[in-house]
Amino acid sequence: MTSLTLFVLCGLMHICRGHSEKFPPNFKFGAATSSYQVEGGWDADGVWSRALTPSHCGRRPVSCSVPLMGLYYDDDESSHKEIRGKGQSIWDRFVHENRDKIANNATGDVAADSYHLWREDVRIAAEMGLQFYRFSINWPRILPTGFVNEINEVGAKYYSDLIDALLAEGIEPVVTIYHWEMPVKILDLGGWANPLIVDWFGDFARVVFNLYADRVKTWITINESVMFCDYFYNIGQFYKEPEFAPFLCNKHVLLAHATAYRIFEKEFRPKYEGRISLSNSVIWIEPASPKDKQLAELGREHVTGRYSHPIFSKKGGWPHSIEKLMLSYSLKQGYNQSRLPAFTKDEIEFVKGTADFFALNHYSTLMIRPAQQGESGKWFLSGSPELNAFLKNPPNASYGVAHDLPVYPTGIRRQLAWIKKRYGDIDILITENGFSTTGYNLEDYDRINFMKKYLEQVLLSIKVDNVSVIGFGVWSLMDNFEWLSGYKHKFGLYEVDYENEKRTRTPRASAYFYACLIKNRSLHIAGECLHMYHSKFKRLVPNGTTITQNGGVLLTAVLLFFCKL
Ligand code: BGC
Repeated sequence: MTSLTLFVLCGLMHICRGHSEKFPPNFKFGAATSSYQVEGGWDADGVWSRALTPSHCGRRPVSCSVPLMGLYYDDDESSHKEIRGKGQSIWDRFVHENRDKIANNATGDVAADSYHLWREDVRIAAEMGLQFYRFSINWPRILPTGFVNEINEVGAKYYSDLIDALLAEGIEPVVTIYHWEMPVKILDLGGWANPLIVDWFGDFARVVFNLYADRVKTWITINESVMFCDYFYNIGQFYKEPEFAPFLCNKHVLLAHATAYRIFEKEFRPKYEGRISLSNSVIWIEPASPKDKQLAELGREHVTGRYSHPIFSKKGGWPHSIEKLMLSYSLKQGYNQSRLPAFTKDEIEFVKGTADFFALNHYSTLMIRPAQQGESGKWFLSGSPELNAFLKNPPNASYGVAHDLPVYPTGIRRQLAWIKKRYGDIDILITENGFSTTGYNLEDYDRINFMKKYLEQVLLSIKVDNVSVIGFGVWSLMDNFEWLSGYKHKFGLYEVDYENEKRTRTPRASAYFYACLIKNRSLHIAGECLHMYHSKFKRLVPNGTTITQNGGVLLTAVLLFFCKL
């Protein structure tokens, strides 16, 4: 081959690769947060004041109340009226009563102070060119008691302002209605184990739709139920009851989601467009050895299918394999019926089809094998007594700072293919995927490599497996309260200075990478852009750092094939 031919071939490959590595036009790039993790303002807006008439107020210069110890009270006690402001969520209560359980005794009382600094959040989202920003509504911020008897107008306005500001920047608000901020009263009444929560959640969702459905077009009703149903009840985060609670919660979550969906369909869809789903999953399960393939499939049905099959499958109801297993296991334990509560025929129909797309939170992959004698595990971290299975991290996986989230990029492609195989050719929005670091460090090259590797797999899923993936939301827009890890584990594209009361947000290298990717919609070009950013922002260039060039030989070959060279 002459050098000229080689030169032309290389040039063509370059152009073609750039083209093939482009994300399709309908694919949207975004980032996510959740209310407790960023908002702060945990007891904001509470006041005591007189039931005032305008004329009474008019005689005073500012307001009719005087402040005392953070609350406000009127000088005439007989006419005091409490304006409750934000109520307490179970996380507010948990962190205050269990400070020793959170890294460095942290709380989310102030967090990234997004309750006051939301304009900053919109600014940084716009700076990166995000196409969507996913945030969640703090239930007791809008309904202080958890019920519709009181609405906190100030809290409701907060989200309204945020939505307007995002839209003004051309950023689509994607709203999660529930990301684990349950009002305390509802937990005290049994939380997700109480069937009445189905209607209570429906009432809350209706209030949220009434407030924002004119402007919000993409909704996630409930975030990662497997976390708060299976994981929380198994470890005893708020209440330990691994026998029944995970499965009661499972059923009530599906009914609550479906109730919200049906409310939207009946009362709001005639007026407003909107797409609704619930976000699921978190991990992909691989067989530890070829003989564990069947067990791996059971594992997938247990972690993903239990929350998805009733909605997305043609038949509805629980995945058959899990229903069968749970019944025989429960009978063997001496119960008269399955601990996985049955759906009635009407309930199956009510839940079936209540999603307009599949929302996937994917972080990691675990390997499954049969449990050996004496091994017991907690679903979904280390195993399952019902499946008699043990879960372990993949060999040779790499890690961020969170060791329970091994990095295993091919897992996301397999999970996407599985969803398509199980539930048909449905649109899939990746609502979360992210990498954890620790300490103050703007040079997060490991995060960039993580993003590139996972996004390469997403691209292969779209281009080679023909899966309809319609977007990708990085967890997270900025560093936030990472639950029991406090502020130690950082997932942010933007670093938040938690030593500074202004909670300054500063872009990490990954924010530059993401901005460039969004602008060019190509991983190949994004890699090159990053090098340009490096020379521009010298402070970001650490000595001897290299960024893995994306596009291995295999990927290039596949893409070239699709480019029909
Ligand atoms: C949750 C987030 C959490 C993230 C990282 C996701 O499962 O939705 O709230 O911060 O994982 O652990």
